[in-house]
Amino acid sequence: MRTKRRIPQRKFASYTNAQCTFSSRQTVNIMDTASTTKNFRTVAELQAGAANAEIFEACRDSTEVKLENFPKYVRRQHLKRFLALYEIFKMILPIKGSIVECGVFRGFGFISWAKLSTMLEPENFTRRIYGFDSFDGFPSIGERDKNAVDSNIVAHPKTGDLSSNSKDELEALVSEYDKDRFLGHMDKAHLIEGDACESIPRFVEEHPHLVLSLVFLDFDLYEPTKCAIDHFVPRMPKGSILAFDELDNPIWPGETQALLDTIGINNVQIERLPWDPYIGFVKM
Ligand SMILES: C[S@@+](CC[C@H](N)C(=O)[O-])C[C@H]1O[C@@H](n2cnc3c(N)ncnc32)[C@H](O)[C@@H]1O
Repeated sequence: MRTKRRIPQRKFASYTNAQCTFSSRQTVNIMDTASTTKNFRTVAELQAGAANAEIFEACRDSTEVKLENFPKYVRRQHLKRFLALYEIFKMILPIKGSIVECGVFRGFGFISWAKLSTMLEPENFTRRIYGFDSFDGFPSIGERDKNAVDSNIVAHPKTGDLSSNSKDELEALVSEYDKDRFLGHMDKAHLIEGDACESIPRFVEEHPHLVLSLVFLDFDLYEPTKCAIDHFVPRMPKGSILAFDELDNPIWPGETQALLDTIGINNVQIERLPWDPYIGFVKM
């Protein structure tokens, strides 16, 4: 039976025009061919994740053993992503304050920050990880989020896009993580559910002690990003990191617009890692 597979949308162009069959079981939607217009992904790239997944599923090892050997199956782009977060985390090791992940989705960044903290600074029990998400996808889309990319290549974002429904799973994972770490009896990782435009101001008001060493902005949209900058930046000491995932990205103009309307682009040095195309960060 053929199943239609949604392309994993890493910022996350929706390719709409055609299907590409790459195995007896799976198809993906892609643009007709790379020759029609400039695509964001090649056909080979679109097939790679699913091909690895097929090999993963066919392997007779237990899932636990397969997870222990994760670099076999995880594409280099996702390994790079984890390494990029590691590089960012190292910058905040000597900086006081907690971490905020703005946009949790399925939890890649949120769980990475939590595990990096446990791995690299097991005694730093006051560094907490807060993850903000509706878990229901984008609550709304504003005018500033409309991109100028050909809609045949990239679908415009819609309310409800990137819905993840991952909160229960992430809480179960955090509970296992707590059992298996130093000082696991002290709380570490928290999820804050709801529209961030409402939950962030409330959270800051309810946490008068809050100091932040890292704010990772990955909402993709103007309004929640602006709200996060407005409310979190006053809690960030010198040397802390304000990181953006979508600056200068034609698909997601809202994040750049939010920076323009708050701190301003000329007022900061926006750095990048030499080998990562996405993350831009400001040392405050
Ligand atoms: C690109 S994903 C985040 C990816 C995540 N950082 C990771 O490591 O995989 C964007 C997330 O932002 C969330 N989001 C966008 N606008 C929001 C808002 N106003 N309130 C709460 N969550 C929002 C979406 O639900 C989505 O899960």
